Amino acid sequence: MTLQANAMGTPTRRLDGAPKVTGTAPYAYEQPVKNPVYVHAVQSGVARGTIRSIETVAAEAVDGVVAVLTHRNATRLADVGDDELAVLQSDSVAFRGQLIAAVLAETPEAARHAARLIQVTYDDEPADTELRADREDLHAPEGEDPPDDRSRDEFAAAFSSADVRVDQTYTTPMLHNNPMEPHTTVAVWDEESEVRLTMFDSTQGVHVVRSTLAPLFGLRPEQMRVVAPHVGGGFGSKGMPHAHNVLAGLAARAVPGRPVKYAVPRQQMYALTGHRSPTIQRIRLGAERDGRLAAISHDSVEHSSTVKEFAEECGKPTRSLYAGAHRLITQRLATLDVPVPSWMRAPGECPGAFALEVAMDELAEACGVDPIDLRIVNDPELDPKTGHPWSSRRLVECLQEGAERFGWAARDPEPGRRQTGGTLVGMGVAASTYPCFRSPGSVARIEVTDDGRYSVRIGAVDIGTGAWTALTQIAADALGCDMELVKLEIGDTDLPHATVAGGSSGLTSWGSAIVEAARILRHEHGASPRVGTTVEAETPDKPRGVAVHSFGAQFAEVHVDPDTGEIRVPRMLGVFAVGRVINAATARSQLIGGMTMGLSMALHEVGVMDHRTGHVVNHDLAEYHIVTNADVGDVEATWLDDVDPQANPMGSKGIGEIGIVGAPAAVANAVYNATGVRVRDLPITADLLL
Ligand code: MOS
Repeated sequence: MTLQANAMGTPTRRLDGAPKVTGTAPYAYEQPVKNPVYVHAVQSGVARGTIRSIETVAAEAVDGVVAVLTHRNATRLADVGDDELAVLQSDSVAFRGQLIAAVLAETPEAARHAARLIQVTYDDEPADTELRADREDLHAPEGEDPPDDRSRDEFAAAFSSADVRVDQTYTTPMLHNNPMEPHTTVAVWDEESEVRLTMFDSTQGVHVVRSTLAPLFGLRPEQMRVVAPHVGGGFGSKGMPHAHNVLAGLAARAVPGRPVKYAVPRQQMYALTGHRSPTIQRIRLGAERDGRLAAISHDSVEHSSTVKEFAEECGKPTRSLYAGAHRLITQRLATLDVPVPSWMRAPGECPGAFALEVAMDELAEACGVDPIDLRIVNDPELDPKTGHPWSSRRLVECLQEGAERFGWAARDPEPGRRQTGGTLVGMGVAASTYPCFRSPGSVARIEVTDDGRYSVRIGAVDIGTGAWTALTQIAADALGCDMELVKLEIGDTDLPHATVAGGSSGLTSWGSAIVEAARILRHEHGASPRVGTTVEAETPDKPRGVAVHSFGAQFAEVHVDPDTGEIRVPRMLGVFAVGRVINAATARSQLIGGMTMGLSMALHEVGVMDHRTGHVVNHDLAEYHIVTNADVGDVEATWLDDVDPQANPMGSKGIGEIGIVGAPAAVANAVYNATGVRVRDLPITADLLL
């Protein structure tokens, strides 16, 4: 059953919009607290080794310094089997930039100044930070069985007998989440109170912060409270607590009763709050002359850290996007002395689709087939990964409608021929896909209040996506009332449990629980339930036997100056099949935001690791380049009129991540069409085109 849409589908303005633009919406760091202590952290200056000495006397002597924390005096934490969180627990250093000390002071200036006076010596060891595909120590991720010999042989036979073959290697660099609001935490430890540790945190999930950190500090869940009223983006880096959260807790523990404020400086984020691993991806496509795929292989190599394993899983889109009988997908990791990689918008799908979708462009050219037609002939009836039918797919319609709107017919299939006023002009296309996840375990509570309204409570977080508004729309339709009658509360562990705002799963997971609670309320208590009536419901199970994914087609036009190699991208268009769009205004922002981030990845973003020191040298926005307004032309996102009743009761699918998937490939393919230069290594810089 799908819900009737009344509030859903309208471009309702953000309920939190006015407080945000007037500066009255409190973010974590802005929580009004009395008499705070400020934290400034010290990071390791070597990438591997042991701290031999750490001299804190000069720092402690600075006026206003309250305490200096090191591994020698910090509270012992419980071992929860996650070494990323074992902050200040030993003298060993496992990557450059690891937290090794912190100053607590009466002012942020005193804390920062004193932190610089701490002298550290190390017994350092050679660090190994360089990802190469020919390393001998590459291994499959934990718990993953590599494909067996038979599937390898079958693939090899199908590939070698194919009429047309593409066999290329693509690379993407280390990439860094850079939300507008860096990671911040205000923490208070109170020995006198039931709730020992309170954290105002910039996070994508209050409950995951609590469930991860409470055991570390020896607390029961109810002894900790996490609040996140407003969050300025995360892109995955706030999807789980990182070392800085633990440091905030340790600092609070050191000055009981006094709130501590810790804002991670942007320069420190590059080593502390997660990043996307660099990737090396070999794609092999074997096809018949008309482009029909017979064999698809995707071998990816990524780095992980010695502290904790994380796999970027580039092969994911290749499992589901196209037909083709023989498929071989492998993944190998190099465990290096690098910061802990983590989620960054569309982990896996984003870099994976760059490689796959550039390879598809190469195959189209090799077959003499239009890149859109190539994708259409390879559109699979069933999900190749599971064999299940699609709840809905509609990628072909996205491609066709996009081609029409974008003016694809004007593209010259011969690269390097189209010019306007001496500038080379090219067009590119790529497909996007992202699964529609439904995380189990969110609970929504609805109560009829004495002002004739409905209080809807769920511990979800709006990280800037518009979830607050969209959930209110969902609740209004589920309750059959106007939005004004819904009072939604989110962002607090005092509210019922909710899963993280990640994996494009938020609205599906939380919205389904709200709809279920509303259904129970109306079913059991009729149209006018009494004041005080309260119901709770959990996210219903996801549908079985059906493959639910969002899809999209991405188009880009690029202009290249043939003398300087300068690349401009005047137009991008994305056409998406994402089920029902709950809020047209905030959905559009999600999609164009993702596309813009994809443009940024295609042309600008690269984390430069100095392998002599293990240091990400360009660790700020001056040198880690992200697209700005001047780099972004007309980015348009649109969607098919779509409702997917199998996806969830709202008929919606995820939109948070699909915008970035395929966008870098569309730009790279357009650059090739403009210049005839095939760049397989991101980012595409001017020098590569000369
Ligand atoms: Mo996303 S990388 O799941 O926040």
